[in-house]
Amino acid sequence: MGRQGRRALLAALLLIATVALAACGMRGAGAGGGDAAGGETFTIKFSHVVTPATPKGQAAQKFKEVVEQRSGGRIKVEVYPNSELYGDKDELQALQSNSVQVLAPASAKFTTIAPALQVLDLPFLFDSVDDIPKVASPDSAVGKAIYENEALAANNIKVMGLWDNGLKQLSSNTEMRTPDSLAGLSFRIQPSDVLRTQFEKWGASATPMAFSEVYNALQQGVVSGQENPYSNIESQNMHTVQKFITESNHGYVGYVLVINNQFFQSLPADLQQIVQQSADEASTYNREVAAKLNADARTTIEQAGTTTITELTPEERKAFKDRVVPSVWQQYADVIGPDLVNDLLAQQNAQ
Ligand code: LMR
Repeated sequence: MGRQGRRALLAALLLIATVALAACGMRGAGAGGGDAAGGETFTIKFSHVVTPATPKGQAAQKFKEVVEQRSGGRIKVEVYPNSELYGDKDELQALQSNSVQVLAPASAKFTTIAPALQVLDLPFLFDSVDDIPKVASPDSAVGKAIYENEALAANNIKVMGLWDNGLKQLSSNTEMRTPDSLAGLSFRIQPSDVLRTQFEKWGASATPMAFSEVYNALQQGVVSGQENPYSNIESQNMHTVQKFITESNHGYVGYVLVINNQFFQSLPADLQQIVQQSADEASTYNREVAAKLNADARTTIEQAGTTTITELTPEERKAFKDRVVPSVWQQYADVIGPDLVNDLLAQQNAQ
């Protein structure tokens, strides 16, 4: 081959390499790329703040498996647990900028963007886990209010499902049998006005803080206590730095499974369907496993022997409830939606 021939060959090779590299680059998160058969491929990054062993962690894994299997590899889902990619402070912004495509934050985390979602944070919304599917399912009044929330839509966020963790318990280093025993204590909260007011009504102070910072804050005494379901307490080892847990079942940690709407709309119709069906399947799975994972976590905490679990009598639990229901519900009726709150109060009174 002459010099010119070699040059032409080199130029051709360079061109092929450039085209191949460009194709790889396009397969970044949320962008379409190509597969071997010439079809378009997509990557969904799913970021969350808890461990893979929790109700959210397990459901995220299920979502990944179902999407990948149903799409025959046309969609790849990368799950990032434990705030390792984004944490409470930046994950919603990352969703809106399409740096991640899917999240499942607890309702309280939406307070700035969509304060009405605090409906799920109302204290004593549920008396037991058995009430959750009735009150918080996609076709209940609460579910519809979340699916149809205009602030979420305006922020390019589409709701794909409602996931449970479970009911919250109180933890601290002193026994808490009455609301008065919380007086003077400080509790870490998720960033929600409803939750702040709840603790204030019990005479305590409330400090909003990212989930990933809670263990250290408890260990170092920055706050006296916190509220979470057993699965979150156990998986973050909070029970090793908290001497008491009051089984108050006083509130709910529920998640809103969301996707960047622009990304969702950019998917071909058949893949949109697959993503939504997979979200539905993961939601069913989540509800199947959540209660058991919390029961298992409770057992692990008991066996660790570092924490005394205080069960409340119905009267003791009612004393906590009477301080916050209906007052906190009424205080936030305008934020949440007066009709919805009246509806929920009527359901409470009918019990
Ligand atoms: C918390 O911040 O306490 C929880 O919302 C974390 C979670 O996602 O379960």
